[in-house]
Amino acid sequence: MAYNNIKFVNEDGIGILTISRPKALNALNTETVTELNDCVGKIEADESVKVVIITGEGAKSFVAGADIVEMSTKNPVEGRKFGKISQDTFTRIENLPQPVIAAVNGYALGGGCELACACDFRYAAENAKFGQPEVGLGITPGFGGTQRLPRVVGRGYGKEMIFRANMIDAQEAHRIGLVNKVVPQEELMDTCKKVAKEIMGNAPIAVQLAKTAINRGINCDVVTGIAYEDEVFALCFSTEDQKEGMDAFVNKRAKHFQGK
Ligand code: COA
Repeated sequence: MAYNNIKFVNEDGIGILTISRPKALNALNTETVTELNDCVGKIEADESVKVVIITGEGAKSFVAGADIVEMSTKNPVEGRKFGKISQDTFTRIENLPQPVIAAVNGYALGGGCELACACDFRYAAENAKFGQPEVGLGITPGFGGTQRLPRVVGRGYGKEMIFRANMIDAQEAHRIGLVNKVVPQEELMDTCKKVAKEIMGNAPIAVQLAKTAINRGINCDVVTGIAYEDEVFALCFSTEDQKEGMDAFVNKRAKHFQGK
């Protein structure tokens, strides 16, 4: 599939996925979400991509939400179809085997905030702004906002953002745990790449299993989550990376993980 509204490059194992529809501040219309879904499917199957960074084109916007112009004429059936492909795409991002970092370079509103929340964690530029403006447009968040946002920031802040439909700045987003770090705009991508490389230095299977355990555990009771952790912990002892990591420690030498 040729992409009109997204870009993807693999920079030495770091997959950089850019939402690129600057004339609409990278708002997500059906075409963009369809391309995103296709691209995420390819990333899923591409073992040469070790970590993914999702960002928006330009210095102003990450993603300014779902496309309001396109949505304005939808009937319930069309609304459901649009919601479904977007939900499926975001869930696919959440469950990618690779860690996914959101590099929030500007407005992350509605679907943009929801996209950021589907990533494993978020770094923001100083000019980033977050919000869920949907109830001000007569709709609820529809791409996971009522579910993922409260799981990231807690129910109180999640409900406040959704009910008020206001915008919060990067510092406030940092204070409530929506983003892990705030950096100057010009340092955002380098900071995310540095963290991506740090992650890539660790045992890939262990990172992937830890991600799965966290994602599964967050959606079930703690006893079931701990039982799942038991299984992935045990599984690690069947990998060459476990032998390598521990042998390197014991023999005081550098480690070289192969993802086996
Ligand atoms: N859907 C469709 N188009 C959008 C959009 C969206 N979510 N967000 C921005 N755009 C378009 C604008 O319509 C405008 O297009 P135009 O030049 O053809 O008129 C262009 O992007 C630039 O946006 P503009 O509003 O002129 O920029 P601004 O700097 O004045 O304001 C925002 C920026 C983000 C505050 C404002 O665009 C906005 O509120 N967007 C909607 C955010 C939203 O509610 N998202 C949730 C949707 S569920």
